[in-house]
Amino acid sequence: MTADIIDGKAFAATVRARVAEHVSRLAKQSITPGLAVVLVGEDPASQVYVRNKGKQTVEVGMASFEHKLDVNTSEADLLALIARLNADPAVHGILCQLPVPDHIDADKVLAAIDPAKDVDGFHISNVGLLATGQKAMVPCTPLGCLMMLRERHGSLSGMNAVVVGRSNIVGKPMAQLLLRDSATVTIAHSRTRDIEALCRTADILIAAVGRPQMITGDWIKPGATVIDVGINRVPNGEKTRLVGDVDFASAVEVAGAITPVPGGVGPMTIACLLANTVTACCRANGLPEPEGLTI
Ligand code: GUN
Repeated sequence: MTADIIDGKAFAATVRARVAEHVSRLAKQSITPGLAVVLVGEDPASQVYVRNKGKQTVEVGMASFEHKLDVNTSEADLLALIARLNADPAVHGILCQLPVPDHIDADKVLAAIDPAKDVDGFHISNVGLLATGQKAMVPCTPLGCLMMLRERHGSLSGMNAVVVGRSNIVGKPMAQLLLRDSATVTIAHSRTRDIEALCRTADILIAAVGRPQMITGDWIKPGATVIDVGINRVPNGEKTRLVGDVDFASAVEVAGAITPVPGGVGPMTIACLLANTVTACCRANGLPEPEGLTI
């Protein structure tokens, strides 16, 4: 039996439609959610992400403010820009694209963003709020994964979840979200002993390590739901192609459901960024939480 394919592209379109509906409702009160994206330098992958973010922000009717800064921009100048965006009432969400150049301290930059505008959910205030079960801004990729898991399973209560990868952007917040939904959660990483056997205990397996096709079908419990967060570019003849952290061909034969790469988690990340911007805008204006966009 082959797994059901979880269509992240279609799900992301549904989330964007919900966002657009909320945005048009806000327009009737003369409120336009605004997202500021800051990019320092010319990293080609970051440029693509930032372009897509700006395009989709405008498509759902929100205001997009792009700040493309020279690679030699000083940390002080970047912090000054963030202070201006923090104070700007037209800006409800601020995202500084990572990685930043080496001469800039990313932690310092993330700490400078007003937590209420931190649509990435990377500020330590939001990390702490999430960890203590309080209302937070939730990192976009884990939020998208959770939405897909809830859609598939309804309740995650009592399920065994294994998160492979312990990054601040995906692994740790993903584990917090699963715990909040009453799953039994284990975080695996490069030092984990017998990681394959551990993964085979998972009803929900999240792969977020950034190693192409590391997780093969024999690591997967039959019927498990596999969420592949990896986006790895690998050689393919003269060209390159995108693969996940999961070896799709063998995993699809064992899993009950699986996200493909591309077309799985990736599209959900930007959709959740738009959702977070609407949430931040509603909170800033003292309005109720937008339904279907927050958790
Ligand atoms: N770089 C790669 N992923 C992300 C993300 O989710 N947010 C930001 N700000 N930078 C990134």
